[in-house]
Amino acid sequence: MIRRYGQLCTVAYGAGAVNSTGEIAKELGFNKVLIVTGKHAEALGYCQKVIDSLKKVNIETIIFNDVKMDAPDYIVEAGGNIAKKEKVDGIIGIGGGSALDTTKGIACFATNDITIHDMIHNGPMKNLPIRFILIPTTSGTGSESTFVAVITDTKNHEKLGCPSTPSFSILDPELTLSLPNNITVYTAMDAFSHCTESLTSMQPNPHSDLLAYDAIERIVKWLPVACRELDNYEARDNLALASNFAGKSFNDSTVHVGHAIAHSLGAQFHIVHGIGCALVTPVVIELTAPAFSEKIKKIGKIMGVTVDSEDESVIGKTVADAVRKFMKSLGVPSCKELGITREDILSCTDYVRNEPLRNFGGVTVTDEMIPGLLGQIYDAY
Ligand SMILES: [Fe+2]
Repeated sequence: MIRRYGQLCTVAYGAGAVNSTGEIAKELGFNKVLIVTGKHAEALGYCQKVIDSLKKVNIETIIFNDVKMDAPDYIVEAGGNIAKKEKVDGIIGIGGGSALDTTKGIACFATNDITIHDMIHNGPMKNLPIRFILIPTTSGTGSESTFVAVITDTKNHEKLGCPSTPSFSILDPELTLSLPNNITVYTAMDAFSHCTESLTSMQPNPHSDLLAYDAIERIVKWLPVACRELDNYEARDNLALASNFAGKSFNDSTVHVGHAIAHSLGAQFHIVHGIGCALVTPVVIELTAPAFSEKIKKIGKIMGVTVDSEDESVIGKTVADAVRKFMKSLGVPSCKELGITREDILSCTDYVRNEPLRNFGGVTVTDEMIPGLLGQIYDAY
Protein backbone atom coordinates (compact mmCIF):
# COMPACT_ATOMS: atom_id res chain seq x y z
CA MET A 1 0.00 0.00 0.00
CA ILE A 2 1.32 3.44 -0.88
CA ARG A 3 0.99 5.90 1.97
CA ARG A 4 1.77 9.58 2.25
CA TYR A 5 3.34 11.99 4.64
CA GLY A 6 3.52 15.75 4.22
CA GLN A 7 6.04 18.50 4.82
CA LEU A 8 3.89 21.64 4.39
CA CYS A 9 5.84 24.91 4.35
CA THR A 10 9.29 26.14 5.33
CA VAL A 11 9.70 27.52 8.85
CA ALA A 12 12.16 30.26 9.84
CA TYR A 13 12.94 29.67 13.47
CA GLY A 14 14.79 31.26 16.41
CA ALA A 15 15.10 34.30 18.66
CA GLY A 16 14.47 37.44 16.62
CA ALA A 17 13.13 35.49 13.62
CA VAL A 18 10.26 37.98 13.36
CA ASN A 19 12.78 40.59 12.20
CA SER A 20 13.41 38.54 9.05
CA THR A 21 9.77 38.90 7.91
CA GLY A 22 10.67 41.56 5.30
CA GLU A 23 13.41 39.43 3.81
CA ILE A 24 11.08 36.42 3.57
CA ALA A 25 8.24 38.52 2.12
CA LYS A 26 10.66 39.81 -0.51
CA GLU A 27 11.70 36.25 -1.34
CA LEU A 28 8.03 35.46 -1.90
CA GLY A 29 7.70 38.48 -4.20
CA PHE A 30 5.32 40.51 -2.01
CA ASN A 31 4.96 44.23 -2.79
CA LYS A 32 1.81 45.20 -0.89
CA VAL A 33 0.84 43.26 2.21
CA LEU A 34 -2.22 43.00 4.44
CA ILE A 35 -1.17 42.39 8.06
CA VAL A 36 -3.84 40.49 10.01
CA THR A 37 -3.59 40.78 13.76
CA GLY A 38 -5.40 41.31 17.05
CA LYS A 39 -5.19 44.17 19.53
CA HIS A 40 -2.94 42.09 21.81
CA ALA A 41 -0.14 41.49 19.29
CA GLU A 42 -0.44 45.13 18.29
CA ALA A 43 -0.24 46.43 21.88
CA LEU A 44 2.83 44.32 22.64
CA GLY A 45 4.65 45.84 19.67
CA TYR A 46 4.95 42.56 17.74
CA CYS A 47 2.99 43.92 14.82
CA GLN A 48 5.32 46.93 14.69
CA LYS A 49 8.32 44.61 14.40
CA VAL A 50 6.71 43.10 11.29
CA ILE A 51 5.94 46.54 9.83
CA ASP A 52 9.50 47.76 10.48
CA SER A 53 10.96 44.69 8.84
CA LEU A 54 8.72 45.12 5.79
CA LYS A 55 9.52 48.84 5.53
CA LYS A 56 13.24 48.06 5.30
CA VAL A 57 12.61 46.23 2.03
CA ASN A 58 10.04 48.79 0.78
CA ILE A 59 6.96 46.62 1.10
CA GLU A 60 3.73 48.59 1.55
CA THR A 61 1.52 47.55 4.50
CA ILE A 62 -2.15 47.76 5.40
CA ILE A 63 -3.31 46.70 8.87
CA PHE A 64 -6.43 44.68 9.65
CA ASN A 65 -6.50 44.45 13.45
CA ASP A 66 -10.03 43.26 14.05
CA VAL A 67 -9.28 39.59 14.79
CA LYS A 68 -11.72 37.98 17.22
CA MET A 69 -11.71 34.71 19.14
CA ASP A 70 -12.40 31.56 17.10
CA ALA A 71 -12.14 33.32 13.71
CA PRO A 72 -15.79 34.29 13.12
CA ASP A 73 -16.97 34.14 9.48
CA TYR A 74 -17.94 37.83 9.32
CA ILE A 75 -14.43 38.91 10.35
CA VAL A 76 -12.86 36.71 7.67
CA GLU A 77 -15.27 38.26 5.16
CA ALA A 78 -14.41 41.82 6.29
CA GLY A 79 -10.65 41.18 6.07
CA GLY A 80 -11.06 39.41 2.73
CA ASN A 81 -12.95 42.38 1.29
CA ILE A 82 -10.11 44.72 2.33
CA ALA A 83 -7.56 42.40 0.68
CA LYS A 84 -9.63 42.45 -2.52
CA LYS A 85 -10.19 46.22 -2.49
CA GLU A 86 -6.54 47.03 -1.78
CA LYS A 87 -5.30 44.44 -4.29
CA VAL A 88 -2.63 43.13 -1.91
CA ASP A 89 -0.28 40.44 -3.22
CA GLY A 90 0.60 38.93 0.15
CA ILE A 91 -0.85 38.51 3.63
CA ILE A 92 0.92 38.18 6.96
CA GLY A 93 -0.90 36.91 10.06
CA ILE A 94 0.55 37.52 13.50
CA GLY A 95 -1.08 36.45 16.77
CA GLY A 96 -2.66 33.43 18.44
CA GLY A 97 -4.62 30.65 16.77
CA SER A 98 -7.61 32.87 15.96
CA ALA A 99 -5.41 35.40 14.14
CA LEU A 100 -3.73 32.65 12.14
CA ASP A 101 -7.01 30.97 11.21
CA THR A 102 -8.49 34.34 10.25
CA THR A 103 -5.46 35.00 8.02
CA LYS A 104 -5.86 31.64 6.30
CA GLY A 105 -9.54 32.34 5.70
CA ILE A 106 -8.89 35.86 4.39
CA ALA A 107 -6.22 34.55 1.99
CA CYS A 108 -8.77 32.11 0.57
CA PHE A 109 -11.70 34.53 0.44
CA ALA A 110 -9.57 37.19 -1.29
CA THR A 111 -9.04 35.12 -4.44
CA ASN A 112 -12.53 33.70 -4.83
CA ASP A 113 -15.77 35.43 -5.80
CA ILE A 114 -17.99 33.54 -3.44
CA THR A 115 -19.97 34.16 -0.26
CA ILE A 116 -18.29 33.41 3.04
CA HIS A 117 -20.99 30.80 3.74
CA ASP A 118 -20.19 28.94 0.53
CA MET A 119 -16.48 29.18 1.20
CA ILE A 120 -16.63 27.43 4.56
CA HIS A 121 -19.36 24.96 3.67
CA ASN A 122 -18.43 23.91 0.15
CA GLY A 123 -14.89 22.61 0.38
CA PRO A 124 -11.83 23.50 -1.73
CA MET A 125 -12.12 26.74 -3.68
CA LYS A 126 -11.61 27.21 -7.41
CA ASN A 127 -8.64 29.56 -6.94
CA LEU A 128 -5.64 29.06 -4.67
CA PRO A 129 -5.31 31.49 -1.72
CA ILE A 130 -3.10 34.58 -1.89
CA ARG A 131 0.29 33.54 -0.53
CA PHE A 132 0.69 34.22 3.16
CA ILE A 133 3.12 34.05 6.07
CA LEU A 134 2.04 33.05 9.59
CA ILE A 135 3.74 34.20 12.80
CA PRO A 136 2.32 32.60 15.99
CA THR A 137 2.53 34.44 19.32
CA THR A 138 1.30 31.45 21.36
CA SER A 139 2.54 27.86 21.47
CA GLY A 140 -0.43 25.59 21.01
CA THR A 141 -2.65 25.62 17.95
CA GLY A 142 0.10 24.72 15.48
CA SER A 143 -2.05 26.52 12.93
CA GLU A 144 1.12 27.79 11.23
CA SER A 145 1.86 24.20 10.23
CA THR A 146 -1.55 22.95 9.12
CA PHE A 147 -3.35 23.23 5.79
CA VAL A 148 -6.79 24.03 7.19
CA ALA A 149 -8.33 27.28 8.44
CA VAL A 150 -10.83 26.63 11.23
CA ILE A 151 -13.56 29.25 10.89
CA THR A 152 -16.71 29.70 12.97
CA ASP A 153 -20.07 29.77 11.23
CA THR A 154 -21.67 32.30 13.60
CA LYS A 155 -25.23 31.62 12.44
CA ASN A 156 -25.12 27.88 13.06
CA HIS A 157 -22.56 27.97 15.92
CA GLU A 158 -20.28 25.44 14.32
CA LYS A 159 -16.60 25.32 13.41
CA LEU A 160 -15.69 24.41 9.85
CA GLY A 161 -12.46 23.74 8.02
CA CYS A 162 -11.40 25.51 4.85
CA PRO A 163 -8.23 24.35 3.03
CA SER A 164 -5.60 27.11 3.02
CA THR A 165 -1.87 26.30 3.21
CA PRO A 166 0.69 28.89 4.39
CA SER A 167 3.63 29.73 2.13
CA PHE A 168 6.01 30.28 5.03
CA SER A 169 5.91 30.35 8.83
CA ILE A 170 8.06 32.26 11.28
CA LEU A 171 8.56 30.85 14.79
CA ASP A 172 10.04 33.39 17.16
CA PRO A 173 9.90 32.08 20.76
CA GLU A 174 10.66 35.59 22.05
CA LEU A 175 7.12 36.57 21.08
CA THR A 176 5.76 34.10 23.65
CA LEU A 177 7.88 35.29 26.59
CA SER A 178 5.18 37.50 28.03
CA LEU A 179 2.36 34.95 27.86
CA PRO A 180 0.54 34.58 31.19
CA ASN A 181 0.55 31.27 33.02
CA ASN A 182 -2.99 30.17 32.15
CA ILE A 183 -2.66 30.84 28.42
CA THR A 184 0.72 29.07 28.43
CA VAL A 185 -0.92 25.98 29.97
CA TYR A 186 -4.08 25.91 27.87
CA THR A 187 -2.27 26.40 24.56
CA ALA A 188 0.33 23.74 25.42
CA MET A 189 -2.42 21.30 26.40
CA ASP A 190 -4.03 21.94 23.02
CA ALA A 191 -0.72 20.86 21.45
CA PHE A 192 -0.61 17.83 23.79
CA SER A 193 -4.06 16.79 22.59
CA HIS A 194 -2.96 17.17 18.96
CA CYS A 195 -0.24 14.62 19.72
CA THR A 196 -2.40 12.04 21.50
CA GLU A 197 -5.11 12.24 18.83
CA SER A 198 -2.62 12.17 15.96
CA LEU A 199 -0.99 9.03 17.40
CA THR A 200 -4.37 7.29 17.74
CA SER A 201 -6.10 8.49 14.58
CA MET A 202 -7.24 6.32 11.70
CA GLN A 203 -4.20 7.28 9.60
CA PRO A 204 -1.03 7.90 11.61
CA ASN A 205 2.32 7.35 9.85
CA PRO A 206 5.95 7.10 11.05
CA HIS A 207 6.49 10.83 10.37
CA SER A 208 3.43 11.99 12.32
CA ASP A 209 4.24 9.58 15.19
CA LEU A 210 7.82 10.82 15.45
CA LEU A 211 6.73 14.45 15.68
CA ALA A 212 3.99 13.67 18.22
CA TYR A 213 6.30 11.82 20.62
CA ASP A 214 8.91 14.55 20.38
CA ALA A 215 6.31 17.26 21.06
CA ILE A 216 4.91 15.41 24.10
CA GLU A 217 8.42 15.07 25.50
CA ARG A 218 9.08 18.79 25.13
CA ILE A 219 5.72 19.72 26.71
CA VAL A 220 6.11 17.38 29.68
CA LYS A 221 9.63 18.66 30.37
CA TRP A 222 9.27 22.35 29.62
CA LEU A 223 5.68 23.38 30.35
CA PRO A 224 6.16 23.23 34.14
CA VAL A 225 9.35 25.28 33.73
CA ALA A 226 7.58 27.93 31.62
CA CYS A 227 4.83 28.12 34.26
CA ARG A 228 7.34 28.73 37.06
CA GLU A 229 9.49 31.12 35.06
CA LEU A 230 7.40 32.94 32.47
CA ASP A 231 10.48 34.47 30.85
CA ASN A 232 12.56 31.30 30.58
CA TYR A 233 13.64 31.40 26.94
CA GLU A 234 14.71 27.76 26.75
CA ALA A 235 11.26 26.67 27.93
CA ARG A 236 9.51 28.97 25.44
CA ASP A 237 11.80 27.75 22.68
CA ASN A 238 10.90 24.12 23.37
CA LEU A 239 7.17 24.86 23.65
CA ALA A 240 7.22 26.73 20.33
CA LEU A 241 8.84 23.72 18.68
CA ALA A 242 6.44 21.34 20.43
CA SER A 243 3.43 23.28 19.16
CA ASN A 244 4.80 23.39 15.63
CA PHE A 245 5.70 19.69 15.61
CA ALA A 246 2.32 18.74 17.08
CA GLY A 247 0.65 20.81 14.35
CA LYS A 248 2.70 19.10 11.63
CA SER A 249 1.86 15.76 13.20
CA PHE A 250 -1.92 16.14 13.17
CA ASN A 251 -1.80 17.90 9.81
CA ASP A 252 -0.26 14.71 8.49
CA SER A 253 -2.42 12.32 10.51
CA THR A 254 -5.55 13.94 11.98
CA VAL A 255 -7.24 14.83 15.25
CA HIS A 256 -10.47 13.00 15.99
CA VAL A 257 -13.11 12.50 18.69
CA GLY A 258 -11.18 14.55 21.27
CA HIS A 259 -11.43 17.61 19.07
CA ALA A 260 -15.04 16.83 18.17
CA ILE A 261 -15.78 17.00 21.91
CA ALA A 262 -13.55 20.05 22.52
CA HIS A 263 -15.37 21.88 19.71
CA SER A 264 -18.71 21.01 21.29
CA LEU A 265 -17.58 22.28 24.70
CA GLY A 266 -16.37 25.49 23.06
CA ALA A 267 -19.58 25.99 21.11
CA GLN A 268 -21.86 25.17 24.05
CA PHE A 269 -20.07 26.77 27.01
CA HIS A 270 -17.59 29.15 25.32
CA ILE A 271 -14.70 27.61 27.16
CA VAL A 272 -11.21 28.13 25.78
CA HIS A 273 -10.24 25.52 23.16
CA GLY A 274 -7.15 24.39 25.09
CA ILE A 275 -9.17 23.68 28.26
CA GLY A 276 -11.65 21.57 26.31
CA CYS A 277 -8.76 19.71 24.68
CA ALA A 278 -7.07 19.10 28.04
CA LEU A 279 -10.27 17.82 29.67
CA VAL A 280 -10.92 15.30 26.94
CA THR A 281 -7.34 14.04 26.47
CA PRO A 282 -7.31 11.43 29.29
CA VAL A 283 -10.67 10.15 28.00
CA VAL A 284 -9.20 9.75 24.49
CA ILE A 285 -6.25 7.87 25.98
CA GLU A 286 -8.51 5.38 27.79
CA LEU A 287 -10.73 5.02 24.73
CA THR A 288 -7.89 4.25 22.33
CA ALA A 289 -5.67 2.14 24.63
CA PRO A 290 -7.16 -1.19 23.43
CA ALA A 291 -6.17 -0.39 19.82
CA PHE A 292 -2.92 1.47 20.54
CA SER A 293 -1.60 -0.05 23.76
CA GLU A 294 2.10 0.24 22.81
CA LYS A 295 1.70 3.89 21.84
CA ILE A 296 -0.18 4.70 25.04
CA LYS A 297 2.54 2.94 27.04
CA LYS A 298 5.12 5.07 25.25
CA ILE A 299 3.22 8.26 26.17
CA GLY A 300 3.28 7.00 29.77
CA LYS A 301 7.01 6.33 29.59
CA ILE A 302 7.64 9.87 28.36
CA MET A 303 5.64 11.07 31.39
CA GLY A 304 7.74 8.94 33.72
CA VAL A 305 5.12 6.21 34.19
CA THR A 306 6.02 2.57 33.51
CA VAL A 307 3.06 0.26 32.97
CA ASP A 308 3.96 -3.39 33.59
CA SER A 309 0.49 -4.76 32.88
CA GLU A 310 -0.53 -5.99 29.42
CA ASP A 311 -4.18 -5.34 30.30
CA GLU A 312 -5.24 -2.61 27.90
CA SER A 313 -7.73 -1.03 30.28
CA VAL A 314 -5.04 -0.83 32.98
CA ILE A 315 -2.62 0.73 30.49
CA GLY A 316 -5.25 3.29 29.44
CA LYS A 317 -6.31 4.16 33.00
CA THR A 318 -2.72 4.43 34.30
CA VAL A 319 -1.56 6.77 31.54
CA ALA A 320 -4.80 8.77 31.58
CA ASP A 321 -4.38 9.30 35.33
CA ALA A 322 -0.80 10.47 34.77
CA VAL A 323 -2.12 13.09 32.33
CA ARG A 324 -4.81 14.12 34.86
CA LYS A 325 -2.14 14.52 37.53
CA PHE A 326 -0.06 16.62 35.13
CA MET A 327 -3.12 18.79 34.38
CA LYS A 328 -3.88 19.26 38.10
CA SER A 329 -0.28 20.33 38.77
CA LEU A 330 -0.66 22.99 36.08
CA GLY A 331 -4.01 24.28 37.32
CA VAL A 332 -6.27 23.07 34.50
CA PRO A 333 -9.81 23.60 35.88
CA SER A 334 -12.33 20.75 36.08
CA CYS A 335 -15.87 20.96 34.70
CA LYS A 336 -17.13 21.61 38.24
CA GLU A 337 -14.69 24.49 38.65
CA LEU A 338 -15.90 25.88 35.34
CA GLY A 339 -19.51 25.73 36.53
CA ILE A 340 -20.44 22.97 34.06
CA THR A 341 -22.75 20.29 35.48
CA ARG A 342 -22.88 16.63 34.43
CA GLU A 343 -26.22 17.33 32.79
CA ASP A 344 -24.70 20.26 30.88
CA ILE A 345 -21.92 18.15 29.51
CA LEU A 346 -24.27 15.37 28.42
CA SER A 347 -26.22 17.98 26.46
CA CYS A 348 -23.25 18.06 24.02
CA THR A 349 -24.15 14.57 22.77
CA ASP A 350 -25.94 15.70 19.60
CA TYR A 351 -23.21 18.17 18.68
CA VAL A 352 -20.52 15.49 19.00
CA ARG A 353 -22.67 12.99 17.07
CA ASN A 354 -22.82 15.42 14.14
CA GLU A 355 -19.16 16.52 14.28
CA PRO A 356 -17.34 14.83 11.37
CA LEU A 357 -14.06 14.59 13.33
CA ARG A 358 -15.60 12.05 15.69
CA ASN A 359 -15.22 9.41 12.96
CA PHE A 360 -11.51 10.00 12.27
CA GLY A 361 -10.10 8.03 15.21
CA GLY A 362 -8.45 4.63 15.08
CA VAL A 363 -11.32 3.19 17.11
CA THR A 364 -15.01 3.29 16.29
CA VAL A 365 -17.10 5.70 18.32
CA THR A 366 -20.75 4.68 18.11
CA ASP A 367 -23.62 7.05 18.90
CA GLU A 368 -24.28 5.06 22.06
CA MET A 369 -20.71 5.62 23.31
CA ILE A 370 -20.83 9.42 23.20
CA PRO A 371 -22.74 10.09 26.46
CA GLY A 372 -20.34 7.72 28.25
CA LEU A 373 -17.29 9.62 26.97
CA LEU A 374 -18.81 12.96 27.93
CA GLY A 375 -19.77 11.69 31.38
CA GLN A 376 -16.23 10.44 31.93
CA ILE A 377 -14.86 13.96 31.39
CA TYR A 378 -16.99 15.09 34.33
CA ASP A 379 -16.58 12.05 36.57
CA ALA A 380 -12.85 11.34 36.28
CA TYR A 381 -11.34 14.81 36.70
FE1 LIG B 1 -6.66 21.96 18.85
